[in-house]
Amino acid sequence: MLAMRSPDGERSPPIALRKRRRIADGCAPRRLQTTMARMSILPIAVWGESVLHRVNRPVEAFDDALGALVADMFETMRAAPGVGLAAPQVGVDARLFVYGWDDDNGVEHKGVAVNPELFVSPYPLEPLTPQDDDEGCLSVPGYRYPTRRAARAILRAYDEHGEYYEKEAEGWLARIWQHEYDHLDGILYVNRLEGKYGASARRQIRAEGWGVPGLSWTPGVDDIDA
Ligand code: NI
Repeated sequence: MLAMRSPDGERSPPIALRKRRRIADGCAPRRLQTTMARMSILPIAVWGESVLHRVNRPVEAFDDALGALVADMFETMRAAPGVGLAAPQVGVDARLFVYGWDDDNGVEHKGVAVNPELFVSPYPLEPLTPQDDDEGCLSVPGYRYPTRRAARAILRAYDEHGEYYEKEAEGWLARIWQHEYDHLDGILYVNRLEGKYGASARRQIRAEGWGVPGLSWTPGVDDIDA
């Protein structure tokens, strides 16, 4: 999950995360069995939960349960607030992410990517720029670090109805796609951090007591500046 950038770009104080009910690997949350269920905000898994750190499984059925999961993921992403959210972040082992971001002209870029492929341009080799290159992740709440990303990307995926599409993006939207796509391969942006940024992030994750299964936080319930 990609967090929104905050003006100060700095970490918030350590936060207490709640132990949550374990979500069995590969199982959607129980309420997904109800096709007409109201949307709900889902708990967001924190660094250390195993489903975040493995290659996720392809989605096999474009059914009501998938539609309900997508609706809940959008609800959870907006509540966080964030601009992207991947299924493993809500405890679901599935290759699927949602995104929603308003560009500087107020144009909304929103979508669902099921079983995506992502093609990216070569990485720029210039030094990273704090602020401009800062990323955050709702599964590593409260931190931001400069992260190297390709400037352009092509996304090929299915929407929640099984419609295939291809889109191109550059800049921040291309960054969102790369961040979310990585989640489906068990890669968090922290895994990509360079030099002092990586060392600092690992130190802070240890200090938070993360890196163990079972931690989550819920937007609107836990008061966290993610
Ligand atoms: Ni993330």
